[in-house]
Amino acid sequence: MKIAVPKERHEDEARVAASPDSVKKLSALGFEFTIESGAGEGASISDDVYRDAGAEIASDATSAISGADIVLKIRGPEDSELDMYSSGQILIAHLSALSSKEAMTSLAGKGVTAFALELLPRITRAQSMDVLSSQSNLAGYKAVLDAAGELGRAFPMMMTAAGTIAPAKVFIMGVGVAGLQAIATAKRMGAVVTATDVRPATKEQVESLGGKFLEVDPEMEKDAQTKGGYAKEMPPEYFEKQKQVVAEHIKKQDVVITTALIPGRPAPVLVTEEMVGTMPSGSVLVDLAVEAGGNCPLSEYGKVVKKGNVIFIGHANVAGRLAEDASSLFARNIVNFISPLVDGETKNLKIDWEDEVIQGTLVCKDGKVVHPRLASEEV
Ligand code: NAI
Repeated sequence: MKIAVPKERHEDEARVAASPDSVKKLSALGFEFTIESGAGEGASISDDVYRDAGAEIASDATSAISGADIVLKIRGPEDSELDMYSSGQILIAHLSALSSKEAMTSLAGKGVTAFALELLPRITRAQSMDVLSSQSNLAGYKAVLDAAGELGRAFPMMMTAAGTIAPAKVFIMGVGVAGLQAIATAKRMGAVVTATDVRPATKEQVESLGGKFLEVDPEMEKDAQTKGGYAKEMPPEYFEKQKQVVAEHIKKQDVVITTALIPGRPAPVLVTEEMVGTMPSGSVLVDLAVEAGGNCPLSEYGKVVKKGNVIFIGHANVAGRLAEDASSLFARNIVNFISPLVDGETKNLKIDWEDEVIQGTLVCKDGKVVHPRLASEEV
């Protein structure tokens, strides 16, 4: 069985879907790798390192993909790449399937069997395959470093001969995987950390990391979580209440990191222009939801901008800014996704199409878009 790994074509993408470690692990299961020359450049992995791990290097994407049984990618193919694919090939990637219905239809039209890793069910068995978690974790960490880089103040309290510096106050909005890592990182750096979320389970998690939870309305939050563990879109009354609580709190924060997402929907606006007007001079807002429209209307996708007194950080693809670790974890997730699909004796793929992980991620098969969530609302 042959696996191809082309270079990512998207301009903001430095990651690569295979690491030397993943090449070795999957080769041991009987796969042969062909990697496009330069695919690992953004993640500091040279062609030679891949060769040493046992991969062949192809001079371009077309020759890498041609003849492959499986194509591994970070993102779904750009339109210009589609012609490289042929019927019967398997594609495994973060396809952003829910927000790219047209692209999924095109992939199905090529006869590709496509698995969208972002749709993995959130069950214990799938945790090691979860690209959203592995990448969000790094993004949460990097968001704190990005904030610290722009803030004109130190994070920890410092007692010096010249006097004492108070610790920075950091407020995390949205306590999923990224938010939890942001809390842990900011705490490690000595900041005073508060956090809020609509899902009630997060209160205990925030407190266990040494943060203080900012409560909005525990009664309304009782029904805030979907079966899949994600937040639901909250009613307008909740947002009104949240606004009041947050408006009061945000006036005293040096750093605000927003991470709130609702799968398949635009990100909720949690920090209004009016609230920003009350933030201390020189404070920093990192909007990790900027790719989904942003949790603050003033943050700009792919930019660091100063508006009024506040610096807004809206980097695109934050996990990709740590491309080495992000690629290595993404590649490990893929190894964990593929390994159970291999028949130990024949070394061929033996996919159980009824399996929960397969059904959860399978987007295109036999020329059709087959994923039920592409048609339904709840995720
Ligand atoms: P996410 O990236 O979809 O959203 C980030 C956070 O924003 C969530 O905690 C969400 O509740 C919050 N949020 C949404 N709307 C909000 C609003 N209006 N105000 C305040 N906060 C708001 O979430 P992520 O990181 O994917 O995690 C969701 C859950 O899934 C977590 O409980 C996580 O622990 C769980 N999980 C389970 C896994 C498994 O069992 N395999 C793997 C990864 C995560």
